[in-house]
Amino acid sequence: MNLEDRLVRYKNLKPCYTAFIDTRSPGSDKKENFTVIGPGVAENPDQHVHISIPHGFNIGGARQPPGCLNSQHSHLTNEVFVVHSGRWAFRSGVDGGDGEVILEAGDVISLPTDVFRGFENVGEGLGYLYAVLGRDDPGRVLWAPQVFDLAQDHGLVLMEDGSLVDTAAGEKPLDGVAPMPKTTAEQVAEHQVVDSEALESIVVRARDFTWLSSTALAGFDGVQEAPLLGPANAAEALTDGALSWNHEFVVRALRLAPGALIPAHRREEEEVIFVQQGSLQIDVGGEVLDIGPGDTFTTPIGATRTFNNPGDVDCTVYVTRRNDLPQAPEFS
Ligand SMILES: [Fe+2]
Repeated sequence: MNLEDRLVRYKNLKPCYTAFIDTRSPGSDKKENFTVIGPGVAENPDQHVHISIPHGFNIGGARQPPGCLNSQHSHLTNEVFVVHSGRWAFRSGVDGGDGEVILEAGDVISLPTDVFRGFENVGEGLGYLYAVLGRDDPGRVLWAPQVFDLAQDHGLVLMEDGSLVDTAAGEKPLDGVAPMPKTTAEQVAEHQVVDSEALESIVVRARDFTWLSSTALAGFDGVQEAPLLGPANAAEALTDGALSWNHEFVVRALRLAPGALIPAHRREEEEVIFVQQGSLQIDVGGEVLDIGPGDTFTTPIGATRTFNNPGDVDCTVYVTRRNDLPQAPEFS
């Protein structure tokens, strides 16, 4: 097994600048979009998919400079963001005017399906968001109506089959493919109005994580686990996540002090590891990988794995697993 095939290093991320309808709209035109695991919801078929193995969820990323916007939209499945770097405003409502929360590094937000959301890097440097989108096929993005108008003004038309036609470059739609109908007032009305207070209730702040020292993984010196997304799971000795409703996947944070080790164990479902800070050494059946901030690794199902922190600062990772109630790890 080549573990490198299951690893996407931050420095090797291949961006798509033209993934979505708002790619030319002023303020959005510097957005980099990444499909790290699974096909995501990109409208551009040329977008590079790093790892195409189905996981029951998709992992993506967005990297944006200060002032760069991701336009208001909604999805057919849950969308969760972890702020890796930067300072981000998330805004709710069809025009982004219903509510706003500001997230900092390490914070997490879980957006339900029936809420229009957009986000802007309001920090001073380049920012990266790590995203989990529910299901293997998350369907298409539903854009707020004004996004269609703005795109058309800049020469882009979204078609019914999800492709983008660049009318500014003289492209013509394929025969029989009609433009995507603009989102209607009825579709807009199916969305919730979410004010700033309600937005805060779907956020878990890094400073508020409940670090547990006696879960199935955290029973070892210097290892702590924080349940973030998903219900309590007796099999893993985990209490309710801060955002405890069912997502069809779970997200936990894991913190290893310098030198800490989680010994050899197996798991029976998908396990995606995203390094927020520090460094993690992973041993899968004797093959060893060292990963660092911004890197994403998916552990082979059923494989025996050990994790340790070879560095001299804490290592914090976010772990996403398939299902609301993953099975317990089996230690050798
Ligand atoms: Fe989205």
